[in-house]
Amino acid sequence: MNKAMIGGTGVYGSGTPARVEQVATPYGDVSVDVVELGGEEVAFLARHGKGHSVPPHRINYRANLKALQQLGVTHVLATAAVGSLNPAFRPGDLVLAADFLDFTQGRARTFFEGADGQVRHVGLEEPYCPELRRQLTAAADRLEIPLAGSGVYLCTEGPRFETPAEIRMFRGWGADLVGMTNVPEVVLAKELGLCYAALGLVVNMASGLEEVPITLEDIQAALEQCRDRATRLCLDVFQQPLHQQHCSCAHSVMGL
Ligand code: HPA
Repeated sequence: MNKAMIGGTGVYGSGTPARVEQVATPYGDVSVDVVELGGEEVAFLARHGKGHSVPPHRINYRANLKALQQLGVTHVLATAAVGSLNPAFRPGDLVLAADFLDFTQGRARTFFEGADGQVRHVGLEEPYCPELRRQLTAAADRLEIPLAGSGVYLCTEGPRFETPAEIRMFRGWGADLVGMTNVPEVVLAKELGLCYAALGLVVNMASGLEEVPITLEDIQAALEQCRDRATRLCLDVFQQPLHQQHCSCAHSVMGL
């Protein structure tokens, strides 16, 4: 199978019956749902676990991505709940990640530890696959599901939310979306030569941007609004033939 969806907060399944596959990787075991879509198998992985039990800083990102690669996956579509720093993106909107800023700390963030005596670097001029992003935009047109645009995703370590001063600083640095999971996920996908795109589900305006506090109820209501549209978009892209000829994702690793 060459297509996988990584469901973030609020997206715990594809809505289709699945068989569960346990994948053993050098980084740990991963449970992946395999669903049938248009006569093809597609993998579905709940990033935080199905019961939403793994916090962002404890997710075994390397095991997750390695497991997908071992299954033969070449194309990954991820959803990620985000706060918005950009007044143009409101709760309930879907926004494509176009680039990222990394404010994580202390996460295992690379496969390239030099254990094999090789020094490798990954190029990130296009962190999110341009072809998968184009496919998501085309799916949005086909299904008449509006995308609010695309923006820069800033990843924090979490699990705490940000202070208003941090959000002011992040806005000044060009961030549009803030979340806790897309780094190192997008980087690890690229290190493995996979095409990867992320769809941000805006669930709140970032800290200090609105008079009213951020509440769990509001976040859950926004997730409810986004969940089905995001899943339909991803599944629609997966019904298209996908290959790696139109992007450089499979060739971004430099060994020096
Ligand atoms: N900050 C960080 N991560 C998030 C937020 C936020 O405001 N909303 C959803 N995930």
